[in-house]
Amino acid sequence: MSTAGPIGVFDSGFGGLTVLKEIERLLPEYDYLYLGDNARSPYGSRSFETVYGYALEAVAWLFDRGCHLAILACNTASAKALRSIQQKDLARMAPEKRVLGVIRPVTETVGAMSGSGHIGIFGTTGTVDSRSYMIEIERYFPQVQVTQEACPIWVPLVETGEAVSEGADFFIRQHIDRLFNADPLIDTVVLGCTHYPLLETKIMQYLPSGVRLVSQGAIVARSLQDYLERHPEMEKRCSHDGTRRFFTSEKAPVFDRLAGFFHGTDVSSCEMHW
Ligand code: DGL
Repeated sequence: MSTAGPIGVFDSGFGGLTVLKEIERLLPEYDYLYLGDNARSPYGSRSFETVYGYALEAVAWLFDRGCHLAILACNTASAKALRSIQQKDLARMAPEKRVLGVIRPVTETVGAMSGSGHIGIFGTTGTVDSRSYMIEIERYFPQVQVTQEACPIWVPLVETGEAVSEGADFFIRQHIDRLFNADPLIDTVVLGCTHYPLLETKIMQYLPSGVRLVSQGAIVARSLQDYLERHPEMEKRCSHDGTRRFFTSEKAPVFDRLAGFFHGTDVSSCEMHW
């Protein structure tokens, strides 16, 4: 049997740290290896082919470093690359390894949270164009109506430190208004991008009262816990020393400067090169 290894967590850059933070909170005993492709981010407006190619390289890199299980903690990569990697590439690369995403855990559960049966999704242009949330929610909750709104400016708002500035209010309100103009019956809204939890306070301020806001980090963490319980053979292949290692394709100081804001604790990363 192969040596146990860390759980790999991949994102285009910083955003996956908001997911990792929730995973660590629920499952602190495992080792985690985080990879942020900051040198090539953002992924949100890139083509299917580009995101797929980048995500595939990242998965291969995590596997090479001993991970048996990798999580695409990026909505855009989960939307554009996960299915192809699972259905096409894994069999050739490493048939006994697994890759999970962050969209499925949300879509499996969100339909049951809505009383009106009308759900809104905020995401990057890539995630919205892929229609992944709509397709997946339809599969689990065919009676639910899903409306999407792409918010391309929300990621740069977070990355430029403007998340809590007054300027952010205009763009947050603009996208909320567009979503609710498209469907005023929405009572549940999904933050379908790893950066958006950092805008949560302001989003809450402008959401119509009574609307429920769903952040994916905690849902993804519970889904991973459930996956490991249902797959004891994989659970045994995940090492349990409680370590965390962070890698970035950018310069480490550039990553470390902002990473703590996403992860909630200071981060010290190493550089990797494709
Ligand atoms: N991590 C990406 C996502 O969740 C947002 C950042 C990007 O566009 O690369 O979709």
